[in-house]
Amino acid sequence: MSMNSHAEQLNLKIEKGNSTLGNIAKTFFTTENKSTELPITLNSIYNENCLVTMARMPDNFLDMTITSPPYDDMRSYDGNNILQFKSIAQELYRITQEGGVVVWVIGDQTTKGNESGTSFVHALYFKEIGFNLFDTMIYAKKPRGAVGNNKTYWQAFEYMFVLSKGTPKTINLICDRENKDSRNGDSGTKRLHDGTLYKHNRGGYSKFGRRTNIWKYNVGKGHSTKDPVAFEHPAIFPEALARDHILSWSNEGDIIYDPFLGSGTTAKMCLINDRNYIGSEINSKYVEIAHKRILSCL
Ligand SMILES: C[S@@+](CC[C@H](N)C(=O)[O-])C[C@H]1O[C@@H](n2cnc3c(N)ncnc32)[C@H](O)[C@@H]1O
Repeated sequence: MSMNSHAEQLNLKIEKGNSTLGNIAKTFFTTENKSTELPITLNSIYNENCLVTMARMPDNFLDMTITSPPYDDMRSYDGNNILQFKSIAQELYRITQEGGVVVWVIGDQTTKGNESGTSFVHALYFKEIGFNLFDTMIYAKKPRGAVGNNKTYWQAFEYMFVLSKGTPKTINLICDRENKDSRNGDSGTKRLHDGTLYKHNRGGYSKFGRRTNIWKYNVGKGHSTKDPVAFEHPAIFPEALARDHILSWSNEGDIIYDPFLGSGTTAKMCLINDRNYIGSEINSKYVEIAHKRILSCL
């Protein structure tokens, strides 16, 4: 299927995106085995609806996606808070490679003591269209999250759904959880009942083991990022969160997409960690912030 027909199917017009900082134009092959210039540039931010950007991408293109979508009515983003969730999920499935991963960071809005449950609806729909729900992880906000309403406990976490197309092809688990009783392996002998010597090896515990799936980050000014300009965006996720997922589910040189790029956190972390990024952000005000952050680390 051609790029244009994807867009037509989604009833969208392909506009010329504000693709800047792009530096690697790649040649790909269509299904007809004809060489064609792909209308997408790596290491670029597209100032447009993510559905338009995704329509530019061929099937099985991305190694990874990490994003936090607008959900419920938590923020207005200048009127860009209507999520065409099902179309976006379907497009993500199409453009993700076999073994590729999508990390979907999301919470729920509470209205009159009733949580929306949007996070679960999304996770189940991703499963319905073919994604594997590889891990439901927690992004815990230190020191205590948001106040919420005073009849509940503090709202201190969001979900990080790790979805994969088949089995994840890259798994680099971060091992920074300190084992209290680390010890080297050793070997020794033990005299058995019949008097013979039995040689045995005792396994060790390394000083650091793999993390749990609850990741805690300090949030807010000076914590989520040291870039003051990023806080002109109302809902950024911590740089460390993006970095840790990028390191876990991708390798250097991989292509990583953020359909809701906001202040550019994902792009900045890709750049620093030698991955290629593509970002979509509908609001030009936020695209400018993202460009400033990227330029400051070039
Ligand atoms: C939760 S914020 C993402 C913040 C980002 N993770 C960061 O660290 O800065 C969601 C962003 O999605 C953008 N947005 C909303 N609908 C969009 C769409 N259809 N396509 C692209 N961007 C969209 C909003 O303008 C907003 O900046």
